Amino acid sequence: MSRFTDQTILLTGAASGIGRAATLKFAAQGAKLFVTDVVAEGLEETVKAASEAASASGARIESRVADISDESEANDSVAACIETYGGLDTLCNNAGVIGYADTHAMEFAAWRRILSINLDGTFLMTRAAIPHLLETKGAIVNIGSTAGLSGLAYGAAYSASKGAIHAFTRAIAVEYAGRGLRANSIAPASIDTGMTKPTTMPDNADFALLNRLASLHGTAGPERVADLILFLASEDALHISGEEIRIDGAALA
Ligand SMILES: NC(=O)c1ccc[n+]([C@@H]2O[C@H](COP(=O)([O-])OP(=O)(O)OC[C@H]3O[C@@H](n4cnc5c(N)ncnc54)[C@H](O)[C@@H]3O)[C@@H](O)[C@H]2O)c1
Repeated sequence: MSRFTDQTILLTGAASGIGRAATLKFAAQGAKLFVTDVVAEGLEETVKAASEAASASGARIESRVADISDESEANDSVAACIETYGGLDTLCNNAGVIGYADTHAMEFAAWRRILSINLDGTFLMTRAAIPHLLETKGAIVNIGSTAGLSGLAYGAAYSASKGAIHAFTRAIAVEYAGRGLRANSIAPASIDTGMTKPTTMPDNADFALLNRLASLHGTAGPERVADLILFLASEDALHISGEEIRIDGAALA
């Protein structure tokens, strides 16, 4: 019997990076997975890779193309997971986007897009999942960021959204503690995924400011964050709730 046998996991942002790495690890450990993303092709690749791991462990995997920031798509994702497996043990809100701009020149639409996906999407998925998680005394694992604990230059919208995710997670942990639901957040930095690849920066951006949140231990693979997601979802973390755990190679130590 594997660590997640009979455990149902709903995970967002599974088409790449940390979400894909976590999907593969849950699949290797027998979980019943329901994974979502907006990128159909990447999601299909994740499912294909996870199916190989699942055949040895007895895991199951279902996927759905869905936007977490769309209220009905978020509700439908949770409903489809419940219809498929009959319950839910862990929700992992991993999907997210980043964008850089001089704050004084940032378009309101760009600000709204980041807040709407990272924060509203996390809320919408969580709201739909809580009634089911209360039935199983389940867990929520939210992916925040060191940018939510310390300022990310040119990333004000991202920083604001991630800081709010950490605060939101603590509120959920306290509100539902008496009913057995746990909620924790993770604050990664310098994880080697699409999100940390070179991207458009404001003209004359000061890279010394940007790099102040960089890990002192170089970069790490998304598997390292996936390990922490699995730990927080597992029975090993039964007395941990309302915690935010940095996985940042000492960046903020
Ligand atoms: N890579 C890092 O160093 C780092 C550091 C701190 C936090 N994070 C966080 O980790 C999480 C995973 O990011 P990653 O590094 O694997 O990057 P990534 O870009 O590889 O993965 C993000 C995934 O979210 C999906 N997504 C985006 N918008 C969506 C939406 N509206 N609905 C559903 N899915 C959507 C993307 O398609 C993508 O597959 C994010 O929340 C990110 O903010 C990453």
